[in-house]
Amino acid sequence: MISKRTSSLSDSLKKLYYEKAADLLFHGWHHIYLTAKKAVEFAEEFPDVDKELVEAAALVHDLNYVVETNTEPEVGEHLRAKYLEEAGFSNEEINYIESLVLEEHTATRTANISDAAKALSDADSLFKVMPLTPIIFSSHYIVENKVDIRKWADKIISEQDPLMEQGIYFYTKMANEKYLHWAKTDLELVKQVRDSLADPAIQEMLAIAYELKVI
Ligand SMILES: [Fe+2]
Repeated sequence: MISKRTSSLSDSLKKLYYEKAADLLFHGWHHIYLTAKKAVEFAEEFPDVDKELVEAAALVHDLNYVVETNTEPEVGEHLRAKYLEEAGFSNEEINYIESLVLEEHTATRTANISDAAKALSDADSLFKVMPLTPIIFSSHYIVENKVDIRKWADKIISEQDPLMEQGIYFYTKMANEKYLHWAKTDLELVKQVRDSLADPAIQEMLAIAYELKVI
């Protein structure tokens, strides 16, 4: 981590996340760690952005899933404030970090979010579209949040298709250059998953797989 405060924050959160590991198969410490690393890297593109506050925002951004899975970011506000305060962040900084977390939320983000939120958003989005995710972590998301596969696919397509159309799937030059092709492939794959569910034989196969508890 890049400062004493974010190192202290990271140590406390790591402990919490390791305790909750069994419940957080997708939004666990592995997700938080990568998001924090990449958020700082993407923030390098914006000289005026405070990298420490971006790193802190990345570390606390998904605490709502610790409170309860399948919830909106607002649910994590109190827990974020508690951990940030313990790590030495001021009230003003805590409010700013909270605003970054709300700005970067996939379901509501726009072209006009702040540069700091752009760096955080790109890091958070990267975890969703890296090639490992559909292979390993997407099924974990479905189990963690107790959603069925059709609802999972519909949510991704309805939230992410408009972002792709507006050219804001990623915001930073670095993420666009290195990772946009991953995002396009991932979105196409999710559309194919959704389309495949129209096949009655595939539906029956899935029902059997659920019955057997293999998914
Ligand atoms: Fe996240």
